[in-house]
Amino acid sequence: MNALTSLSVALRERSYEILVGPNLLADAARHLRPVIARPPVVVVTDFNVAQLHLDTLTGALDEACIDHFEIVLNAGELTKEFDTLERLIEEILDTQPERGSVIVALGGGVIGDIVGVAASLVIRGIDYVQIPTTLLAQVDSSVGGKTAVNTRHGKNLVGSFYQPRLVLADTGLLDTLDGRELRAGYAEMVKYALLGDGAFFDWLVDNGGSVLDGDAEARRYAIVTCCTAKADIVAADERESGRRALLNLGHTFGHALEAECGYDGDLLHGEAVAIGIVFAFDLSAALGLCPAEDVSRVRRHFNDVGLPTGLDALGKRDWDAASLVRHMEHDKKVRRGRINFVLVRGIGQAFLTDDVGTDELLRLLEDAIAA
Ligand code: GLY
Repeated sequence: MNALTSLSVALRERSYEILVGPNLLADAARHLRPVIARPPVVVVTDFNVAQLHLDTLTGALDEACIDHFEIVLNAGELTKEFDTLERLIEEILDTQPERGSVIVALGGGVIGDIVGVAASLVIRGIDYVQIPTTLLAQVDSSVGGKTAVNTRHGKNLVGSFYQPRLVLADTGLLDTLDGRELRAGYAEMVKYALLGDGAFFDWLVDNGGSVLDGDAEARRYAIVTCCTAKADIVAADERESGRRALLNLGHTFGHALEAECGYDGDLLHGEAVAIGIVFAFDLSAALGLCPAEDVSRVRRHFNDVGLPTGLDALGKRDWDAASLVRHMEHDKKVRRGRINFVLVRGIGQAFLTDDVGTDELLRLLEDAIAA
C-alpha cells in the first residue's frame, strides 16, 4: 500500500501539514496552491538536487500555470554561511516578492536551513515550504522550523524558529540517494526510537534493512513514525525550552566531532550522530544509569546497517579529549556554563541533564581515543 499520509504540527495559527508518500513532487502544484496567496513561487535548490528533481517541480508548476523563479546554490555544508545567505536574499529580492509570496526549499538539510533563515528575514518574513529530498531532512530537519547558518564559532549558531507552511516528504525522491547518505539519515531515525519509543527500535532492528534497501511501505511507515514523534514534540515545546532538547540525543558529541573533522564531507552529520548516540549510551552506562545490554544492542544495530560507532571509523587522527570538550562547551546546548546532555536510562528512555562532571567526560573520551 502506498497511501499518502497527512500529519499535523499543531501550533495554533502557525500549524501546518506534513504530507508523506510517493509522487508528491510531481503533484506539488495541487498541494502548494492553497498556501500561495500571490505568485510567483521562488524555488531554491542546490546543483545536485536541481539535476535530479528541479524539472519535475517546475514542470508541475508550469502545468498549473503558477509563475516561478529558480535559484540554484552550491551543494554542501559550506553553503550554509553568511556570504551565501546574503546572495540568496538579494536574489530572492530580485524577484520582487510580496507578503503572500512563497519560497520553496527543495533539497536536504542545508537548503532547508538556509532557506528558512532567508524566508524569516526577507521583507520581515515570508512563507516557505519544505520539500525535503534526503532521508535526514524528511525525518528531522524539514519539520519544526529550526533555521540556521554556520559561523566560525560553530554550527547552526545563527538562525531562528520559523515554521514552514507545509512539508512535502516525497518518499520516491529517496531512490536517488546513495547508500552512505541514506544510512546517515537512518541514524536520525534510530534516534527517535532510542529517545522515546523502544517498540520502534525493535521494529527497526527487524526492518531497518528493508528501509535502507528501498522497500516503499517500510520507508513510509518509518518516516511517518518519526514525523509523528517530531510533530508531537514540536507542538509541545516549539522553542526547545524542555522536551524538544531530547531530539539532540547524540548531537552534543556529534557536533564536536563534526567541528573537529571539518564540514567537507569526510564525516556526514548523521554519521557523527550515530557515533554521538553510542557515546551518550556509553556515558549513561558509565554513570550507572543504563544497562550495558542496551548499549550493546544499539552498537550492534548500527554495525549491522553499516553506520560508524566509534572514533576508529574516522581513520587515524590526532584526537584530543580536551579539544572535543571545548567544542561541546561552545555548542548551543550549554546553559549557565554547563553542558546539557541527553542521556538514557535504557532504549526509549532519554532524559536531559547537566549533571555530568568534566572528569567523567574526559575519562570517557580518553578511553574512546585509546580504544
Ligand atoms: N533537529 C532537532 C530539532 O529540530 O529540534
